[in-house]
Amino acid sequence: MHKEIEDILKRAKREIEKAKDSKTLDALRVKFLGRKGEITLAFKKLSSLSEEERPQIGRLLNKAKKEIDSLLKEKGKSFSPSERSLYKDGLGWLKGVVDPSLPGRRKIIGKLHPITKVMGEICSVFQSMGFSIAQGPEVEEDFYNFEALNIPPNHPARDMQDTFYIDDKILLRTHTSPIQIRTMKAQKPPIRIIAPGKVYRCDSDVTHTPMFHQVEGLMVDKNVSFSQLKGTLTQFVHKIFDAQTKVRFRPSYFPFTEPSAEVDIQCVNCRGKGCRVCSYTGWLEVLGAGMVHPAVFRNVGYDPEEVTGFAFGLGVERIAMLKYSIDDIRLFYDNDIRFLDQF
Ligand code: DAH
Repeated sequence: MHKEIEDILKRAKREIEKAKDSKTLDALRVKFLGRKGEITLAFKKLSSLSEEERPQIGRLLNKAKKEIDSLLKEKGKSFSPSERSLYKDGLGWLKGVVDPSLPGRRKIIGKLHPITKVMGEICSVFQSMGFSIAQGPEVEEDFYNFEALNIPPNHPARDMQDTFYIDDKILLRTHTSPIQIRTMKAQKPPIRIIAPGKVYRCDSDVTHTPMFHQVEGLMVDKNVSFSQLKGTLTQFVHKIFDAQTKVRFRPSYFPFTEPSAEVDIQCVNCRGKGCRVCSYTGWLEVLGAGMVHPAVFRNVGYDPEEVTGFAFGLGVERIAMLKYSIDDIRLFYDNDIRFLDQF
């Protein structure tokens, strides 16, 4: 058997030497060391040998096996680096099955939707001022969405064109203001809440989508004043945009507040000089606000002689569009990953 082992070793050396690629090398590993390889078969013959010969031949075979193995590994090193590392790890057989030169798979990490991000920023500004979060249903009763908010039956806001009605009394909320009513009915003053959420209106163009987001604010206590409203909203604007942004309160009308105001900020695009974004006025409307109307207090069982309050409502998409200079609201909901990926 000495001769036989020597012969195997000699051929192995010669053939490994000649191998030109890792595939050939693989075949040689199989040929000599595989399950039916020459060395493996030679091992099987050990049992038929005499007691004296067996350990001696066994040792020879082990030595030959080791030598062939290290020759294969050594030769593998001369191939490409990626092939080499496969060989080093004993994964040479993967050659041809996988391509180790391909780049690894990049993990795609999700991102927050820009509206979710801005919503979060808005909420945390108000939370830092002591407001807590309140919620209400998106499918709402006419009572909370309109009636209790002092919106009379013939008010244009109830128009079929604006409101998605489910039936006579049930609708998709058109604003987050009904959460004011729900909160006041459930709690006693003092109240200091903001209510973020989705609202629905039958409307669609570059600045309107049938679903959008609002954040409502409400503060009720003894002696809450308009100057507190001004201070709170000015602080908010300075935190969301920057401290240089001027804020102006313009008299307006909402059925649920008296007095009412619309809040404008200096145009973030032209800094007040006048441009296309602000229709050459230098100002942008961002909020509706006012002092809670006595009728609203009475509707929830509060005594307007005892408490006062302010309320405000803002559109999240509008703030996001101004923050990121986006001129078409529909981009938020087209779900084009190239757009969403930028935030
Ligand atoms: N609900 C109003 C809207 O959707 C916004 C608003 C205005 C909310 C004035 C208020 C407020 O709380 O005081 O247009």
